[in-house]
Amino acid sequence: MKIFLDTADIEEIRTAARWGVLDGVTTNPSLYAKVGGSYEEILQEICRITSGPVSAEVVAEDVEGMLREGRAFAKLAPNIVVKVPMSEEGLEAISRFADEGIKTNCTLIFTANQGLLAAKAGASLISPFVGRLDDINQDGMIVIRELAEIFAIHEIEAEILSASIRHPLHVTQSALAGAHIATLPMKVLQQMVHHPLTDKGIVTFRADWEKARQAAAQKPAAKQETAASGTKPSA
Ligand code: E4P
Repeated sequence: MKIFLDTADIEEIRTAARWGVLDGVTTNPSLYAKVGGSYEEILQEICRITSGPVSAEVVAEDVEGMLREGRAFAKLAPNIVVKVPMSEEGLEAISRFADEGIKTNCTLIFTANQGLLAAKAGASLISPFVGRLDDINQDGMIVIRELAEIFAIHEIEAEILSASIRHPLHVTQSALAGAHIATLPMKVLQQMVHHPLTDKGIVTFRADWEKARQAAAQKPAAKQETAASGTKPSA
């Protein structure tokens, strides 16, 4: 399963890229609002850091507006994917983008049927929002599981992008449910790295290493003393 970072924060993206685990990035208007500046410049910078897909979301609600915004995003870099919300207008825009060779990520998917429609319209990424379903007491992972089965049965090429991830368990569950991609906030990526026993183990190994080095450094001095006095080392 590929791992995308769900952020518009350049430093977070640089960090994940340095770790060698970054396959792409998703942004949305709320994530952009957290960092501010020029959305276009941020997108270009992200596309310089990763060659993987970088989702840029349209905010227009009419087809022509979506097309205008999406075409402008697509000109920014070859790895831009235009993020379009699930709606009647969104489906039409996705279909038109597909005809123009512009890749799309259909966002705000909450049912398998919505995902199926988005794939049929021509979206290359389908984004079910797992966390937002869990937030309203529905099992978001069911949508991932259903879509994975439907896409396998019908040999649908679109990729399932598990979005709205809240914690590391969502990542494991997404991978097991057959998601092709999970997009994670930086906090969840960091949580995945750590385990209390790993962190404790690193501290213990370091302490034991220091002790062993100190003991080794004292040994030759003890031997020299013994040789000079002509006494046998005590047992
Ligand atoms: C990513 O493509 C989505 O926009 C994002 O995962 C939504 O996450 P949220 O539900 O935490 O806002």
